[in-house]
Amino acid sequence: MAFSPELLGYIVDNLASEGYSIVPDAMPAYEVAALAADCRQGWQAGRFHAAAVGRGDAQQVVTDIRADHVCWVNEQHVTPPQAAYLIQMEGLRQALNAGLYLGLFELETHFALYPPGAFYKRHVDNFRGTGQRLVTTILYLNADWQFGDGGELRIYLDEQNDSRYIDVEPRAGTLVTFLAADFFHEVLPAYQPRMSLTGWFRKRTGA
Ligand code: OGA
Ligand code: MN
Repeated sequence: MAFSPELLGYIVDNLASEGYSIVPDAMPAYEVAALAADCRQGWQAGRFHAAAVGRGDAQQVVTDIRADHVCWVNEQHVTPPQAAYLIQMEGLRQALNAGLYLGLFELETHFALYPPGAFYKRHVDNFRGTGQRLVTTILYLNADWQFGDGGELRIYLDEQNDSRYIDVEPRAGTLVTFLAADFFHEVLPAYQPRMSLTGWFRKRTGA
């Protein structure tokens, strides 16, 4: 099922006014469950690797910054749930371009799995706007997430004042979207395995 025009309009308006958007139950539960099953299967098949920090040649695994594991979605070999997800994200890309003139060109996306104890320290996805990632999206896949399981996404609302933030629980179906250069954020330690599907809309290389 595609995102409704109402939902797309809501996300675009949120991004225009606040720079971020949080939508619970953005996708039908059966689609999210299928993506969660995909994620678990990829993990069991050994397709995940330790996530790195930095860009290009400077990439390295630094487990005291982030200790999650990731598995990139390969557009040449998508499963049916991934295809459904990509269709929805394509709708979001077009809505963001139409509403905000962002010139988003493509999506890169990976599953992420945080084993118990894993976190991702405060960072910004597109540091000083020098990278190609303009918009970050995160879809959470954790069906039975309980208060106390940790793993909240903490979005800092004011770079100068760390006490201004919002915490988002990584509950199945919640979709977070934000301008990738504008928000420091972190993942607090998760006490249960924490699954998500993260995407970045990129501008055209060299543009
Ligand atoms: C990231 C990230 C947040 C989350 O992968 O860059 O910040 O809630 N993820 O998974
Ligand atoms: Mn991030």
